[in-house]
Amino acid sequence: MNFDMPFRFRRLRRNASLRAMVREHQLTIDDLILPIFVEENITEAVAISSMPGVMRYPESQLGAVVQRAAAAGIKAVILFGVSHCKDQDGSDTWSDEGLMVRCIREAKRVEPSMMVISDNCFCEYTEHGHCGVIDAAGQVDNDLTLENLQRQSLAAARAGVDMLAPSGMMDGMIAAMREALDEEGFQQLPIMSYSTKFASAFYGPFRDAVDSNFKGDRNAYQMDAANGREAVAESIQDEAEGADILMVKPGMAYLDVLYRIREATTQPLAVYHVSGEYAMVKAAAAAGVVDEQAVVMESMLAFKRAGADLIITYYAHDIVEWLKG
Ligand code: PBG
Repeated sequence: MNFDMPFRFRRLRRNASLRAMVREHQLTIDDLILPIFVEENITEAVAISSMPGVMRYPESQLGAVVQRAAAAGIKAVILFGVSHCKDQDGSDTWSDEGLMVRCIREAKRVEPSMMVISDNCFCEYTEHGHCGVIDAAGQVDNDLTLENLQRQSLAAARAGVDMLAPSGMMDGMIAAMREALDEEGFQQLPIMSYSTKFASAFYGPFRDAVDSNFKGDRNAYQMDAANGREAVAESIQDEAEGADILMVKPGMAYLDVLYRIREATTQPLAVYHVSGEYAMVKAAAAAGVVDEQAVVMESMLAFKRAGADLIITYYAHDIVEWLKG
């Protein structure tokens, strides 16, 4: 029998070399950004029970953690401080002796070539755990928070940070930061905006990670999971305000959003593979129901295919090893 088919897709799938030649997307070490949690006033690393393999490190170990990332070939880290100096506004973040500033200085001191990115928010530094200043009505005051974000950005810039990453979802945050930075001579400092960030249950384990006492939700500033058009508008607005890199967060449940933003801009695009995504794979792998390496690598390729250039992931070290294998 001779079946007359116009095209046979399987011709290019016959062996590994051929498949590699026609592969549309590659994951490389250069795509990865490693999150690091640093807690002040502790002496030993604390394991985060919901995120096996992820730790909160004492400040004294930050240097070694950054050096280990550099030795593995990881080019960028994003720093999260776990503060013991919390107040109503998160003022420690703009203190020139505060935790954020100290972490940036230490990371740059040990590894000058590492791209050191600061997560610019207030939630780990406020007593109430919200991402800014609370007004009389109990809401996060957008514009007062912007003024503090300007102070925080300048403190981080003076400390030598390589890139700022505001994650608070305040309106106008990029314009406010850009204005403050440019005025002080930091015109060359790039901003990676958490431009499209959803109010997500997938951040659950992060709250353990930063030992958050936060109660309630962030629905009045982070995005509604139902909204796709608005998701595009949020990123495009940040681009218009001068964001150098845009971001979608979380990752796996929002591949459509990633793709839509990819179609709407030529700027580099990052995706955050968040704590809950990490924890779910770890739990499933521990239960023996999925192959951890295979599902993580498939997820990373899905991010690339959907349009991500950069991936922030707690799996960065494992991925480096798996890429070698
Ligand atoms: C702070 C911030 C959060 C995450 C990154 N920056 C938590 C939140 O917005 O509630 C989550 C990261 C993760 O879940 O891995 N605004």
